[in-house]
Amino acid sequence: MGFNIAIDGPAGAGKSTIARRTAQELSFIYVDTGALYRALAVFLVDEGISPEDTEKVGEAVKSVKVSIAYENGEQQVLVNGKNVTSRLRAEAVGNMASRVSAIPAVRAALLDLQRDLAKAHDVLMDGRDIGTNVLPEAELKIYLTASVETRAERRYKELQEKGEKKDFSAIKEEIEKRDYQDMTRAIAPLKQAEDAVYLDTSHMNIDEVVEAIKKLYRERKEA
Ligand code: DC
Repeated sequence: MGFNIAIDGPAGAGKSTIARRTAQELSFIYVDTGALYRALAVFLVDEGISPEDTEKVGEAVKSVKVSIAYENGEQQVLVNGKNVTSRLRAEAVGNMASRVSAIPAVRAALLDLQRDLAKAHDVLMDGRDIGTNVLPEAELKIYLTASVETRAERRYKELQEKGEKKDFSAIKEEIEKRDYQDMTRAIAPLKQAEDAVYLDTSHMNIDEVVEAIKKLYRERKEA
């Protein structure tokens, strides 16, 4: 049985950067669960299935096999054996993932995969419902968040660095919409687990957050 760290929080809180770094420094396996939802979304986009057609989505995901592999320590996600990792970050894929993640059959399709990974290794897993639903027994749970403004600023800068121009207020609106979708869905909505440590990173840099999580890990490990 490995040590499990669950990190949940809204889009743009810096979860994946922080989770990847922390996992590396602790020699844990990092599981980015958003990427699993995104991989299913790639499949649905390719099949031309509408997120509104929940029955069709439910049928489709039953026949899909999502798996993960590691290449030079980086998580790769495969759909029916095909590596779709390079397509996961597209905006349309993220939106599709957020919409279909509200469908019970979609969540059910990914639950065993996530739990099996956590059983076998020391795992740091990030997502929306890891501490509340996927790994309720995780030894350490973090709820990582930042203000909407901070998250929009970070996203704005990230896009600028990539040479993409996008209006700040449009980014902020998208973040608010995504928060709303993820927090208000009926099944496994994003919320802080009762026993999670709340970390607001609005005024913290990446190193500070990584150090804070490592410190919490050492405390729990010794307890
Ligand atoms: O973290 P992300 O942006 O890659 O996640 C994409 C979407 O997937 C997110 O908007 C909601 C969904 N998701 C989820 O419902 N549960 C998770 N554990 C992870 C992601």
